[in-house]
Amino acid sequence: MSERSNWSKDSWHSFKALQQPNWPDGQELQSALATISELPPLVFAGEIRDLKQQLAKVARGEAFLLQGGDCAESFSYCTAPAVRELLKVILQMTVILGYAGGKPVVKVGRMAGQYAKPRSADTEMVDGVELPSYRGDMVNSSEPNPEARRPDPQRMVKGYFLSCATMNILRAFTRGGYAALDRVHAWNNEFVKNSPQGQMYERLASHIEQAINFMRVVGLDTNMPQLTQASFFTSHEALLLGYEEALTRQDSTTGDWYDCSAHMLWIGERTRQVDGAHVEFFRGVHNPIGVKIGPSHDIDDVKRLVSTLNPDNEPGKLTLITRFGIKKIAEGLTPLVQALKKEGFNLVWSCDPMHGNTYTSSTGLKTRNFINILEEIRAFFEIHWQEGTVPGGVHFEMTGADVTECVGGGREIMDQQLSRNYQTMCDPRLNAEQSLELAFQIAEMLREK
Ligand code: PEP
Ligand code: CO
Repeated sequence: MSERSNWSKDSWHSFKALQQPNWPDGQELQSALATISELPPLVFAGEIRDLKQQLAKVARGEAFLLQGGDCAESFSYCTAPAVRELLKVILQMTVILGYAGGKPVVKVGRMAGQYAKPRSADTEMVDGVELPSYRGDMVNSSEPNPEARRPDPQRMVKGYFLSCATMNILRAFTRGGYAALDRVHAWNNEFVKNSPQGQMYERLASHIEQAINFMRVVGLDTNMPQLTQASFFTSHEALLLGYEEALTRQDSTTGDWYDCSAHMLWIGERTRQVDGAHVEFFRGVHNPIGVKIGPSHDIDDVKRLVSTLNPDNEPGKLTLITRFGIKKIAEGLTPLVQALKKEGFNLVWSCDPMHGNTYTSSTGLKTRNFINILEEIRAFFEIHWQEGTVPGGVHFEMTGADVTECVGGGREIMDQQLSRNYQTMCDPRLNAEQSLELAFQIAEMLREK
């Protein structure tokens, strides 16, 4: 057991916690948190340790991290079809990266708890009316009226149960046969099937199917879990510290503390202050932790963050998720990588090509251009190759649905077409086709090395 000095699961209370909702009633808040703290953990310490080991492989360049899902999950997405459609695309991308890219893929969903959002302002204007900002379904409703926007702690309790339900169906899909590799064809979406990406995927799926058939023909056992099950992990931005504390439990076998709300948690760009409450909380739990790093970081600050969050320099413990945007990645990532490499830190480097590339389209909708996303990933790979570090993974906002939220891609979605099916609760997501297209491009980058 490695104890962190002066840490307890509530020591963050003496630090400044940014981005917390203004809960109107302290009593209601305490009662909701007390309820959650009695409920079972959503994940187990053993699974969390397994993910950490897999991420250690990513840090060494022996595997690739694919983290993806909604910007903000909505309570209404907790249905079997919605979970299945997103899982299908992630499984397809895994096959593409694994088969064409030649690397085992560590799959982590922004799922089963991605219900709280940081916001740049406490209020927002909706149709000329100033309302408290929507802070994620675990806090308030996105409905544009003052009553719906009032933070309600019971939404955390509901969020816990919906995370449970999502987790349960994910476990059923990934362990119960749906994710078996001989079903690769079934993961292709109807609306993607006839696109060039869908067809490329079909060809690749046929190769895999033939390989598995051949294994059967020569008498090999194709019932092994590597072929019949997928390992899948969950993650979310750990923003609401009361909720995270309520799900933080001591592992009976090691005595270590784990935040059992998800396997991996990340700290957002807005809450990663070294002397802030989020960093205080996460320095004590033994989960793998991600930290978003954007263009306005200070290198010495990042060094302090890394030493604080990973004091034992454990490989797989810490993932830096860089999100510079295409314009700033070259000037921002290169010196950061050089400085951290010099310190000898064990890190997983992951690229979030979404959050630095957001802009407002000519039709007024928030969007991202596929080409900027692709180019940021390419720059990320090239900078790491240049510096001799490992481009370990990617972090996407994506959905299995046929949405029109990001412009470009094979179907060349234009500004004027964004409103056709713009559904997101928060930031614009890649649709299934755009996600596959990126996977094929990344597979090529992986193959290059
Ligand atoms: C996010 O991942 O949705 C997010 C808010 O990112 P960042 O903290 O990088 O802005
Ligand atoms: Co987002």
